[in-house]
Amino acid sequence: SDPRNFFEAVGGEPTFRKLISRFYAEVAEDPVLRPLYPEQDLGPAEERLRLFLMQYWGGPHTYSEQRGHPRLRMRHVPFKIGPTERDAWLRAMRVAVDETGVEEPYRSQLWQYLEMAAHSLVNSWE
Ligand code: HEM
Repeated sequence: SDPRNFFEAVGGEPTFRKLISRFYAEVAEDPVLRPLYPEQDLGPAEERLRLFLMQYWGGPHTYSEQRGHPRLRMRHVPFKIGPTERDAWLRAMRVAVDETGVEEPYRSQLWQYLEMAAHSLVNSWE
């Protein structure tokens, strides 16, 4: 088995940069997702998601140093996230994961987590 943690095994920060910048390029063009983001500049949101995922997968803890405990469900309460928004988010992330070239078995592990996390953040069923 691979003694490195997930963060290192997939290539560290450059891989997460690529992944999340690709994801936000999709968000910027997505008619369901784009209106949810309160700020005109998606850069700060991009940085928060990148730092969170780096920390989650065993990289530096910069996210929590800057933002505290993640409390993702609470932080998503201001946004209406129904099945439509969840599926749009997962579609954009699918493009990013596919184009970033993360190798198996990491790719499946990453995708499983993202799918589970997106389902857990649905907060509206109207
Ligand atoms: C923040 C939407 C799923 C992690 C946000 C924001 C929006 C949003 C609109 C505010 C942007 C900002 O940071 O200023 C959504 C939608 C989702 C979704 C529609 C669909 C289910 C996820 C998932 C994760 C995640 C699955 C983690 C795996 C984060 C993080 C932040 C954030 C870390 C920043 C929290 C903070 O420190 O303030 N999301 N999100 N989101 N989201 Fe999501």
